[in-house]
Amino acid sequence: MECYPNKKIIIAIDGFSSCGKSTFAKNIAVKLGYVFIDTGAMYRAVTLYGIDNGAIVDGVLNETKLTQLLDQIEITFKFNNNREASDIYVNGALVEDKIRSIDVSNCVSAVSGMANVREKLVAMQQEMGKNRGIVMDGRDIGTVVFPDAELKIFMTADPLVRAKRRYDELRAKGEEVSLLEIKENVISRDNADQNRAVSPLKKANDAVILDNSNMTIPQQMEWVATHLKRLMS
Ligand code: DC
Repeated sequence: MECYPNKKIIIAIDGFSSCGKSTFAKNIAVKLGYVFIDTGAMYRAVTLYGIDNGAIVDGVLNETKLTQLLDQIEITFKFNNNREASDIYVNGALVEDKIRSIDVSNCVSAVSGMANVREKLVAMQQEMGKNRGIVMDGRDIGTVVFPDAELKIFMTADPLVRAKRRYDELRAKGEEVSLLEIKENVISRDNADQNRAVSPLKKANDAVILDNSNMTIPQQMEWVATHLKRLMS
């Protein structure tokens, strides 16, 4: 892929959970020299804070309590050269690994359904993209955060393929999880993401669909290169 240093655009990547959005977004950002922001990590960070501070107990979210805590949560990113992506910090503490646990995954849909949580995080995301030159992935990037993004991609893949990817990722980190448990989590998050009242997951009218069930990462990069060429030449 060529680099296009002079034209800075916004690339919005939305889609179902465990489609490989973040890996794809990161690779594009590295190629273009853009900032990459994984907005799912931001919802996960708020969820982790809720668990650690008594707003989520035994998997049950107390919205009033989390609302009271919201102003105390400061999310920041710091570029990690090894990962070639930014790590996420909550109130100065590195939480990049902790936010991927199954406990956080099981509660994050409820947290991301809260309007005041979304309002806070969307405002942060818009601020981060105000100079363009950014690749952001999530569920509402092309529809709510950057409706004017120059390139909008909607990613999808077979649910079983997605469950297997997440399972392999967690097992590689030593988490004791079952494939069935992960598959149930993937399907229940799909439902929650698509059916929540506030900013549900949906394809923007002007988004291009990428189904990567049977695609390698290099094939996905070739696919995006054709779109970038069209937009930036
Ligand atoms: O991409 P992910 O699986 O790490 O996202 C975690 C959760 O956060 C997911 O269940 C949906 C929610 N989310 C959201 O509602 N809006 C976003 N822009 C990003 C993620």
